[in-house]
Amino acid sequence: MNFLSDNIVGASAPVLQALMQANDGAMPAYGGDDITKRIKARFAEIFEHEVSVYLVTTGTAANALALSSIVPPWGLCVCHKEAHVIDDECGAPEFFMHGAKLAGLPGVGSKLTAASVSAYLEGLPKAVKQMPPKALSISQVTESGMVYGLDEIAALSAVCKAHGLSFHMDGARFVNALVTLGCTPAEMTWKQGIDILSFGATKNGCLMAEAIVVFKPALAEGLDYRCKRAGQVTSKGRLIAAQLEGYFANDHWYDNARHANRLATLLSDGLSQLPGVRLAWPTEANEVFPILSKSLDQALREGGVQYHPWTDVSLPAHESVGADEALVRLVVSFATREDDVRRVLEIARSAASRQAAE
Ligand SMILES: Cc1ncc(COP(=O)(O)O)c(C=O)c1O
Repeated sequence: MNFLSDNIVGASAPVLQALMQANDGAMPAYGGDDITKRIKARFAEIFEHEVSVYLVTTGTAANALALSSIVPPWGLCVCHKEAHVIDDECGAPEFFMHGAKLAGLPGVGSKLTAASVSAYLEGLPKAVKQMPPKALSISQVTESGMVYGLDEIAALSAVCKAHGLSFHMDGARFVNALVTLGCTPAEMTWKQGIDILSFGATKNGCLMAEAIVVFKPALAEGLDYRCKRAGQVTSKGRLIAAQLEGYFANDHWYDNARHANRLATLLSDGLSQLPGVRLAWPTEANEVFPILSKSLDQALREGGVQYHPWTDVSLPAHESVGADEALVRLVVSFATREDDVRRVLEIARSAASRQAAE
């Protein structure tokens, strides 16, 4: 029972079928094919907006290239201190931004607030020897599994506007957040002031397909060359586009995310009802972060449940992890079986009742 992440499973059947269909015959290379043209038009429909779309193979590439197009080499990009861009991409954003820096701020649930970003920006010295802030990047869903509400995104956008910053969203789990908020892709992005988006699809069913979606044409200038220089203009580009066609067809992407979010809620509700278990952060998408007794943690692991230990740096002020406790992360994917979730809960329940009897 593997809950290590949502990228531990392969691609979903409709995505693979679309790939098989696109496989036959000769087509222009490097994105000059009809499938790529169709998928770019589809993005415009989905977002109800003119968009420039660049298909890439990893979320790191999407983030690094998106940020490189909105932050000059002397600029600063503000993000959460646990953001994937600053913590998990081996410096790729700074590398592609050619010297620009990421500034990581604290925040409960790996979320930034308009007040904290605004206070940070106002406190920055304005001298020429200081790097000027040029962009803000948020993760939707956050690294603690939380979802920014539309009002929170709008408030951050207002801070960006007041300070002349571009606004980037790392949407590695984009549709999981959409399902939670019950809003449209447009409402969660450009309508709240997002300028550029890393659109994730790999975690939720694709083989390897991500997209940079740009809502302001000026920001896309040169991005095709940046992608090429990063080795992200795939020669058989139609096979990336085909994955996305399979992903979008018949709302398959929504079905996958609904499944993952529903099972995460089931897991979260079941675990948090057990004595001595509490959630580090509310379960708002497809990730569950319980704080367990070390003995329950051990019982789950001995029962064959795999998951990662997690950091406590973004806990609320009133919360802490005791010496005999463990904070862990369980991620539910589009392919997780409900039986596996129920089995985890059975193991947890019987361990909890054994421990209560001791
Ligand atoms: C918040 C976030 N952003 C981006 C990514 C994409 O990373 P990768 O380069 O592994 O596709 C991930 C994957 O773990 C993620 O969790």
